[in-house]
Amino acid sequence: MANGIGSVEIVEAMGRAGMLGFFGAAGLTPNLVEAAITRLQADLGSVPHGINLIHSPNEPDLESKLVDLYLRKGVRLVEASAYLALTLPIVRYRLSGIRRGPSGEALASNKVIAKVSRVEVAAKFFSPAPEAMVRELVGRGELTEDQAALSRELPVATDLTAEADSGGHTDNRPLVTLLPTMIALRDRLQDQFAYREALRVGAAGGIATPQSAAAAFLMGAAYVLTGSVNQACVESGSSDVVRGMLAAAAQADTAMAPAADMFEMGVKVQILKRGTMFAMRAAKLYEVYRSCESIETIPPAMKVQLERDLFRAPLEEVWKKTREFFLERDPSQAQRAERDPKHKMALVFRWYLGLSSRWANAGEPSRQLDYQVWCGPAMGAFNEWARGSFLEDPKERRVVVVALNILAGAAGLTRAHFLRLSGRPVEPELSRFSPKRLEELRPEVV
Ligand SMILES: Cc1cc2nc3c(=O)[nH]c(=O)nc-3n(C[C@H](O)[C@H](O)[C@H](O)COP(=O)(O)O)c2cc1C
Repeated sequence: MANGIGSVEIVEAMGRAGMLGFFGAAGLTPNLVEAAITRLQADLGSVPHGINLIHSPNEPDLESKLVDLYLRKGVRLVEASAYLALTLPIVRYRLSGIRRGPSGEALASNKVIAKVSRVEVAAKFFSPAPEAMVRELVGRGELTEDQAALSRELPVATDLTAEADSGGHTDNRPLVTLLPTMIALRDRLQDQFAYREALRVGAAGGIATPQSAAAAFLMGAAYVLTGSVNQACVESGSSDVVRGMLAAAAQADTAMAPAADMFEMGVKVQILKRGTMFAMRAAKLYEVYRSCESIETIPPAMKVQLERDLFRAPLEEVWKKTREFFLERDPSQAQRAERDPKHKMALVFRWYLGLSSRWANAGEPSRQLDYQVWCGPAMGAFNEWARGSFLEDPKERRVVVVALNILAGAAGLTRAHFLRLSGRPVEPELSRFSPKRLEELRPEVV
């Protein structure tokens, strides 16, 4: 979860409990990501953990810089997401250090778990690295010919999370349709490439209750991944005020809104609608972006409204701050904006979209109506399940308690289901699983 919402604390708590957490590197500067990696490596040592790598079509240099950082720091597991196609940096990460193992097998030092919602993208991750990219890496001296040959024996990712309708970036696919398709793809490509280590498909999107996890496992998921419910937990990099808002969310309290990182492409993210006006305000910005060619051509009444309600400053002043930001982070963006007034307008609008998430994470009281909180319908499902239990209270929501309840509940419901299928009478209470405190969960689960 971007901007460190998937915090060091979440990753550590999950790792220590035998689960896998990913640090939310997206949206953070490389030096903040480096500080988080250093901390995780010091605190967790060999305990499994991973770091997110989000595809940034608008900032290709950033993706490459992060891969340099991950390789330099010896990050062994990356969760790659938002990819529309493979890029050289992600392939470079996967193949760096590839070698032959004791029985002649290809061994990679670095693992990629791809999170995707499109079958054509999944096929690329489940295939060996594209030959053209491998040749480019050889040409640059980053791979030897022997390593290039070895690359044909391994997929770019052995594990792939099928991401259905979720918080944040999402194609809004239902898990019940997406997962079987990804599993069929896995079987086809496993047969085609006969990898030594079998490909696996996990499930994400909407998993927030014992029932949803049980259903995913019954459908053949190798593992499940949660997002929205973790943001609502005390360890997340969000704020108490947002955790309170999330605890009040119902199933229909989400909406799609323009994404900051791919604003110009019309990409949307799923966010919390209740208690904030962000969805409406961001949609207004996109409408203005589509219909105007520059800040100067925005109809005066609209400009006044935007400056008063959203930016709380003249747009030219916002441009000055935006320009300074980009001169430091990616000067080519600022230079392009000087030549292209529509791009300048996009960068100014992205200033608001970017800050709206930071205001939420900081719990900035003067900006509550502008909070951008990524969130999927999983949140409402969780709240409904937790209603009347200790987990109704946001202060009691801890990632390990939540995850173990979902998993233990899924196991219990599955057992009851099989009993029922075998024709045995099943007490109604066995078909329900209410939240339990850690000490009440069966010892083999804890
Ligand atoms: C607050 C928030 C931030 C997210 N940021 C990222 C991100 O930076 N990178 C990423 O791969 N997925 C991100 N996601 C998606 C989650 O990692 C996860 O795939 C998704 O939330 C699972 O679906 P669910 O929300 O229904 O649990 C984010 C989700 C949320 C709720």
